[in-house]
Amino acid sequence: MLEQTRSQQYQKAHHRGFLRASVSTITAMASLEQTSALFRSTVIRRRSVSVEHFEITLAVNGFPAAAPGQFIQLLHHEPHAFEMNQGDANLIQFNTDTISENPLLRRPFSIGALRRSGDQTEIDIIGRVIGIGTAWLDALRVGNSVDFIGPLGTPFRLPPKNARAILVAGGVGLPPIRWLGMTLTDMGVDCRAIIGAQRRELLPVIIKQKPTNFAEFQHILGDFEPHPVHVIVTTDDGSFGMKGRVTDALAPILCGTTEGELVQVFACGPEPMLKAVGELCEASNVSCQLAMERVMGCGMGTCQSCVVPVKDDAASDGWRYALCCREGPVFDSRVVIW
Ligand SMILES: Cc1cc2nc3c(=O)[nH]c(=O)nc-3n(C[C@H](O)[C@H](O)[C@H](O)COP(=O)(O)OP(=O)(O)OC[C@H]3O[C@@H](n4cnc5c(N)ncnc54)[C@H](O)[C@@H]3O)c2cc1C
Ligand code: FES
Repeated sequence: MLEQTRSQQYQKAHHRGFLRASVSTITAMASLEQTSALFRSTVIRRRSVSVEHFEITLAVNGFPAAAPGQFIQLLHHEPHAFEMNQGDANLIQFNTDTISENPLLRRPFSIGALRRSGDQTEIDIIGRVIGIGTAWLDALRVGNSVDFIGPLGTPFRLPPKNARAILVAGGVGLPPIRWLGMTLTDMGVDCRAIIGAQRRELLPVIIKQKPTNFAEFQHILGDFEPHPVHVIVTTDDGSFGMKGRVTDALAPILCGTTEGELVQVFACGPEPMLKAVGELCEASNVSCQLAMERVMGCGMGTCQSCVVPVKDDAASDGWRYALCCREGPVFDSRVVIW
């Protein structure tokens, strides 16, 4: 019998860990609300958005009702690379040759826009390549199959029609904000969006032409078209749009709000940005909802990998951990403990 190397033993143990997480994912799916399910979709469009960002559109049949802020858990390998013998979770088969290139655990992605036509739904995903799973997604081409679970998580609470919405997106925090902007303008809500990144190349938007003034941004970016969202772009280094951070653009807008005006801020992006946006809104007494990110093992409340500390008067110490995948990813900024 061949002697196992330490590396082989490590790999086997690693696979067993993945296997346990996957088995618990399958068990958890059984207890999910009827509104979430496992889907097999097809890539019908793919485009590069910037040097690091890509967009894919998935077509799927029978997708249930979903709302901005919700996400899907994508499997990052061909659906047949991981197959379960139905009814017996111990008989999971997976291809050990490809497992190091194709992670077994699903990855969460926000729904960046959603269109329905009859039973078919198109879902836009905007991704930034940061590791093995996102590189796999980036390499997908039209006609490829993608397996996902969704819709998951708690969406943004929509404001009344007479409210004014200010949407703030940092980097690849744009997708849920983009779909929210489209939904709100369809409802007739007055929307303004601030999209920021460190520099021009990291803006997850296609820049169609050089703008001559800020009012032109919505057409130049094309992202919200044909929705009438007034867009302000910021870059930390001033290489595109206003020089500075999204909060530099947000602060004067919040200062300009009048008493009695119903204003609601919605934000998604890196955690320090969310903290700064939340604090700014709190100081201006403006309500703010934040779409948070955590590393998510299962996306459906089983693995406990995604906790966010939140204030809770009912808890013995006045705080508790909330699961970002179930109670979030959208939280009221005033409950999050940073
Ligand atoms: C609710 C939710 C919605 C999301 N929506 C989008 C989206 O629309 N578009 C998009 O591009 N990304 C989104 N993400 C982040 C995306 O899930 C991660 O980029 C992806 O899981 C990385 O997988 P990977 O295999 O490429 O990277 P890995 O190889 O797993 O990780 C590469 C590096 O990134 C770190 N990392 C991985 N995931 C995260 C995370 N969630 N937060 C911070 N650091 C992380 C790892 O620790 C590691 O250092 C979302 C995350 C959440 C929780
Ligand atoms: S991701 Fe597993 S519990 Fe939230």
